Amino acid sequence: MRAIFWLGLPLSTVMARTAFYKGSQPKVKESITSPRGWVKHAPAPPSHVLELKIALPQPKFDALEQYLWEASDPGHERYGAYLSKEETYALMSPHRGSVEAVVDWLASYGFEEGHLVRSPANDWITIRAPVSLAEKMLDTTYHVYHHAQKGDTTVRTLSYSLPENLHGHVDFIQPTTMFARFKAFKSTLHWSGQAELVPASLGNGTITGPAGNQVDASCNSTITLTCLRQLYNALNYTTSATNGNKLGLTGYLNQYANLDDLQQFYLTQNPAALGSNFTFVSVHGGTNNQSLLAAGDEADLDTQFGFGLTYPTPGTFYSTAGEPPFTPSALEANDTNEPYSYWLGYVLSQDDIPQTISTSYGDDEQTVPYNYAVRVCNEMAALGARGVSVIFSSGDGGVGDNDADPATQQCFTNDGRNVTRFVPFFPATCPYITAVGSTAYIPEKAIPFSGGGFSNYFPRPPYQELAAQGYIDKLAPGTYQGLYNPYGRGVPDVSTQGLNFSIFWEGKNVHVSGTSCSAPTFAAFISMLNDARISLGLPPLGFLNPFLYSSGYKALNDITEGNNPGCGTEGFNATVGWDPGKSDVTA
Ligand SMILES: *[C@@H]1O[C@H](CO)[C@@H](O)[C@H](O)[C@H]1NC(C)=O
Ligand SMILES: *[C@@H]1O[C@H](CO)[C@@H](O)[C@H](O)[C@H]1NC(C)=O
Ligand SMILES: *[C@@H]1O[C@H](CO)[C@@H](O)[C@H](O)[C@H]1NC(C)=O
Ligand SMILES: *[C@@H]1O[C@H](CO)[C@@H](O)[C@H](O)[C@H]1NC(C)=O
Ligand SMILES: *[C@@H]1O[C@H](CO)[C@@H](O)[C@H](O)[C@H]1NC(C)=O
Ligand SMILES: *[C@@H]1O[C@H](CO)[C@@H](O)[C@H](O)[C@H]1NC(C)=O
Ligand SMILES: *[C@@H]1O[C@H](CO)[C@@H](O)[C@H](O)[C@H]1NC(C)=O
Ligand SMILES: *[C@@H]1O[C@H](CO)[C@@H](O)[C@H](O)[C@H]1NC(C)=O
Ligand SMILES: *[C@@H]1O[C@H](CO)[C@@H](O)[C@H](O)[C@H]1NC(C)=O
Repeated sequence: MRAIFWLGLPLSTVMARTAFYKGSQPKVKESITSPRGWVKHAPAPPSHVLELKIALPQPKFDALEQYLWEASDPGHERYGAYLSKEETYALMSPHRGSVEAVVDWLASYGFEEGHLVRSPANDWITIRAPVSLAEKMLDTTYHVYHHAQKGDTTVRTLSYSLPENLHGHVDFIQPTTMFARFKAFKSTLHWSGQAELVPASLGNGTITGPAGNQVDASCNSTITLTCLRQLYNALNYTTSATNGNKLGLTGYLNQYANLDDLQQFYLTQNPAALGSNFTFVSVHGGTNNQSLLAAGDEADLDTQFGFGLTYPTPGTFYSTAGEPPFTPSALEANDTNEPYSYWLGYVLSQDDIPQTISTSYGDDEQTVPYNYAVRVCNEMAALGARGVSVIFSSGDGGVGDNDADPATQQCFTNDGRNVTRFVPFFPATCPYITAVGSTAYIPEKAIPFSGGGFSNYFPRPPYQELAAQGYIDKLAPGTYQGLYNPYGRGVPDVSTQGLNFSIFWEGKNVHVSGTSCSAPTFAAFISMLNDARISLGLPPLGFLNPFLYSSGYKALNDITEGNNPGCGTEGFNATVGWDPGKSDVTA
């Protein structure tokens, strides 16, 4: 029953039940300063419905993380021994006391069991409440905020409180202080419009790749499936349709993967795949509108290159609706919640998950509340512990956010201090995923838009200590002091081509660029490696980074030219060895 039951609840009842918690005063749980770019517009309409997600603490997460390190360390006896769904849930679950405290508190506002949506591990409890009730529960006032430049509208608050005796039982509640503006990393800045088809073949001259492989000369300006297979040494590799290997790609923000575009792409770039399809999975009401005008360039790019490179490996496209319910009559706004948590909740509930999954969306790390970022990242760790290689693009703004002050070109912190600082991207900065940046040309160089730098939230993970410290040690003393966190998780982990990919979109052949090209490309080659391992009866590669940084890098081609400008600086230089300017793959 999803009726708006509370509207009929007399206020006196609410007040009386609140007394249940009278022993504990409300105390501020979370508070932020006014986030950059957002302007407080008006009080939120009292009847506007919020889908509130309550995150309960996960006291056993350390054990889950330990499993992840062991199962993804090629030197460990547990390498490749992944957890089952139930084992993962057991390590994500809160104390029973926390669940009881939260359920009691909700009951005091009239929420009965039937109104609660509990995640299988009980680490999330979701309710729907109108602003008027949420304001009482959280001792706060919601407002409508407008984004000055982008025009987005959202209902949020700068602070909320909970009874003091509940603080230890709740990590956070959102949407409250979340001002993230989630975006796709296919950047239209690099759009090159309609162009003639240039199928790659070895007929018109070749370039010799880093492993002595021959690459068609046309690949130096336009990237096709054949270019990538030539360049990354997988020209003749054939995947199995039936060994159980799968590739997953995620879609958000009403990005729909168009099947006609896919067939046209196959016709020109992989005729063997013509007529094949992917499995569509709807998450939280996500759809896949097949009207040609609804085709998403990001979703078309991801499915065409991801599934095109790995055909006949079965593919899954997940479409997650990013907007929780709202009342259009009361408020003309898209109340965007951060949608990864919905997707993660869905995918972790499946017994059978694709072994490789790529995502080309994200936002500035500083716009995602710290404790929310940590929780979402922890769920990525759970996916890794299940044996999934989780891959994200690293962002398209170099060391900045494409959002620098137009006059000064400087980037600023979001915490009210107005301090100049580089802007890393989340979830790329999560240490439990593999972040992919972009290169261009042959020989490959780092490309300026490629997102890279160091997290301000996540400390450097052990697998990266030598590589990242080695890079920082090579910088001239004082370089970018204060602009980045020298103890933070460095991104990206690897890079692939990301400029001028030839795709079909809305029935036309167009070229797109961005780390959105690179993530599905890298994922496709990892999927081929997983295919080979599964056919040999070996477990899939799972979380890749401990392997990549300890021995896997030997199979990669080191990129030593280029840099990633942003925030009025030249960014980080590519160098010998790992660097935030980039590092590369040759499968
Ligand atoms: C070589 O290039 C010419 C002109 O660009 C083109 O017509 C021809 O199809 C190309 N041949 C191959 C094998 O790619
Ligand atoms: C590829 O293009 C780049 C940029 O235009 C150029 O510097 C490079 O020499 C080209 N590579 C070859 C092998 O022609
Ligand atoms: C992208 O491809 C088009 C068509 O092949 C070409 O005209 C253009 O120069 C390419 N852009 C870059 C940056 O290489
Ligand atoms: C791919 O297969 C073709 C045909 O069998 C062969 O001529 C070619 O040398 C192979 N290429 C590579 C890179 O192994
Ligand atoms: C492909 O799959 C979608 C949904 O999974 C389905 O609606 C569509 O009919 C399929 N198309 C073809 C050509 O099989
Ligand atoms: C699908 O997209 C088209 C074009 O944007 C739109 O007119 C149509 O209403 C959409 N269909 C649904 C069911 O949303
Ligand atoms: C809200 O979402 C709709 C459908 O996705 C979109 O067309 C519209 O531009 C969005 N409105 C705002 C204010 O972002
Ligand atoms: C932040 O500081 C810069 C210069 O240091 C200034 O131009 C800008 O107006 C300040 N912004 C805010 C929001 O205080
Ligand atoms: C990048 O390399 C250039 C040329 O060698 C050098 O001038 C610059 O200082 C380097 N930048 C950083 C951040 O290391």
